[in-house]
Amino acid sequence: MMGWWFRRSDRQGGTGAQPMDGWEEQRDAIQCFRPQSPVAHRAFAVVEWPQGAVGDRLALAAHPLRSDTWPLVQWVWRVTPSPLLLNGELARKIRRLEMAVRDLAQEETGPRRDEWTALTGLKAMRDALVFQGESLVNVDTVVLVTSTPDLLEEDVMLLLARWQALGVQVRPLPYDQQWAAVRAWGAGPLPIATGSTWSDRIQRWIGGHASSPTWEPRVTTAERAASLVWPGWGLTGDDPTRGVYVGHTAQGHPIFVDFFQDVAGTAANLLAVGSTGTGKSFWMKTVIRGLLAQGFRVVVLDVDGEYRAVCEAERGTWIDVSGTQASAFPDPLAIPAPVGDEATDARRWDRMLDTVGRLTQILGDFDLVTKSAVERAVITVWKRYGVSPEDPATWTRTPHAPHPTMAEVWEQLNITTEDPDAMNAAKRLWVYIHGSQRYLFAGRPEVWDTIPSPLTVWHLGNLAQHAGVDARHLPPETAGRYVLVWHTIWEWLRRQRRAGQWTAIVVDEGQRVMTQPILGSSVADLASTIRKWNGVMLLATNTPDPLWSTSVGQSLWATTPLKAFLRLEKAQVESAAQALQMPAPVAGTLVELPKQTVLLRLWHDEWVTARAEVPPDEARLYKTRG
Ligand SMILES: Nc1ncnc2c1ncn2[C@@H]1O[C@H](COP(=O)(O)OP(=O)(O)OP(=O)(O)O)[C@@H](O)[C@H]1O
Ligand SMILES: [Mg+2]
Repeated sequence: MMGWWFRRSDRQGGTGAQPMDGWEEQRDAIQCFRPQSPVAHRAFAVVEWPQGAVGDRLALAAHPLRSDTWPLVQWVWRVTPSPLLLNGELARKIRRLEMAVRDLAQEETGPRRDEWTALTGLKAMRDALVFQGESLVNVDTVVLVTSTPDLLEEDVMLLLARWQALGVQVRPLPYDQQWAAVRAWGAGPLPIATGSTWSDRIQRWIGGHASSPTWEPRVTTAERAASLVWPGWGLTGDDPTRGVYVGHTAQGHPIFVDFFQDVAGTAANLLAVGSTGTGKSFWMKTVIRGLLAQGFRVVVLDVDGEYRAVCEAERGTWIDVSGTQASAFPDPLAIPAPVGDEATDARRWDRMLDTVGRLTQILGDFDLVTKSAVERAVITVWKRYGVSPEDPATWTRTPHAPHPTMAEVWEQLNITTEDPDAMNAAKRLWVYIHGSQRYLFAGRPEVWDTIPSPLTVWHLGNLAQHAGVDARHLPPETAGRYVLVWHTIWEWLRRQRRAGQWTAIVVDEGQRVMTQPILGSSVADLASTIRKWNGVMLLATNTPDPLWSTSVGQSLWATTPLKAFLRLEKAQVESAAQALQMPAPVAGTLVELPKQTVLLRLWHDEWVTARAEVPPDEARLYKTRG
């Protein structure tokens, strides 16, 4: 391993103008020709310096651990803000914004968030420059540790101990930011044989000898530094640290999106559209990981079981409600436990009744009249257990108290011979109770009151066997499971919101759900209201046309600010461009879009192309084929 490092430094000697071992820097891009090079690095952000001046301590903190080997520590300075010319133009800009904000403040809606943010930022900068005479340079942002791969762990431990002793508090940067840091800075070797001391070098970095014949770390530009630490591109919202990584631009800038709020101040739903095999699920998994890192609880509705590996790696909870595999299923007859909110709790009974109603409606393809017969049977059955709709005091049951089952509901329908609707319902539901689909309710009816873990995946059932019929539509038993899971998720959202926690609901294979009449409308309902419940919905579909040909699709399109397109067939692009009134350059980009690349609409019709770049270990988890 060591040999490799020395070879690199040999090659570098004397010919500093050449691109170094795969790294090439241009004006607006940094290219890495050999990303497979085993560069071992670890990046940290300095959270806090010890009291007093930085100078000498900096040299100490960055001193290499061994005199004869590779430099181990690089400091990267973040210069804030981006270049700012303090002239009449800026003064006018601030003035204009002040007026806009003042005018808008008099309307009910208040100022636009982006204008407000811009104004506050500009004013802060102006004040710092003009009134406090500050230089607007931060000297304390990123520590990049490079080492030989075999020594990295050990060296990091030693450095952390040293920093701690010096009172320098650091926190590790997440992978995406590390990768950006390495890209922006290369693992560019510092010349070993210059004879200069470490503190000399640090002085030179600060001084920024741009014309140095060798490639050395130095003070970075604002744009470059922004891509190291904070959202590099497409930043949204007020708090850049809340950004979720969604991919890198072709120039290697990471892009982050704030899912907590869009410009209107509400959480942002996301819709991903792309043909089969273009990388939707891969990308969604990348985003899911980012959401988890931001403290979201993530709930995935997984039709084909392809989130298993991710779920295991994240130590999530895998709930298998698919077919004969299922050991348990959400109990449709359970009356939700109280949440502690009067209005919400008053409707607990109705929510249970509605769940059973919708479930059987889908299973038996019922009209409203038949659905009503089922609801009557449910009420009768619950009464045998001393529970009645009129008396909320009877609703709360311990999990071990006897509960009615779906088989009892069916029995009730079957004995109500005087009611033709009940008889009809019994006939149509027989297959799920005694017939070929009886596994549907064969497991243990379970009540999942709260989200079991940060990542929870519902495995709903592999539909490959039904694909021949119509891959777009769900067979009724799978759609029925969706109803139960949906019901559980709603209960979770109610609790999550009360606890002030955020939830992301991920629906992959959305085309199957969107086109199912009852499920489709519940997805649309959820999408339009979830933001009030501290939640966001992420939905992926491999067929774009339901987005304009169905009312559910139209509603999803309208309530989803973040839109992601992956590669589509040419004909699909054409119809999408027309039906969705896509700007011509966007449609043009979409036609040419390579696979695994996402054309992402951020706010205000700002579009960007990105590709998720994740560590190889993670990519393995995300792969579904090949
Ligand atoms: N950013 C990426 N980096 C590396 N590999 C990728 C990336 N995106 C996609 N892939 C590869 O492409 C394969 C197909 O992607 P994916 O399963 O996400 O497609 P999909 O759009 O969800 O297809 P479907 O509609 O059939 O579900 C993945 O298994 C993975 O191997
Ligand atoms: Mg997929």
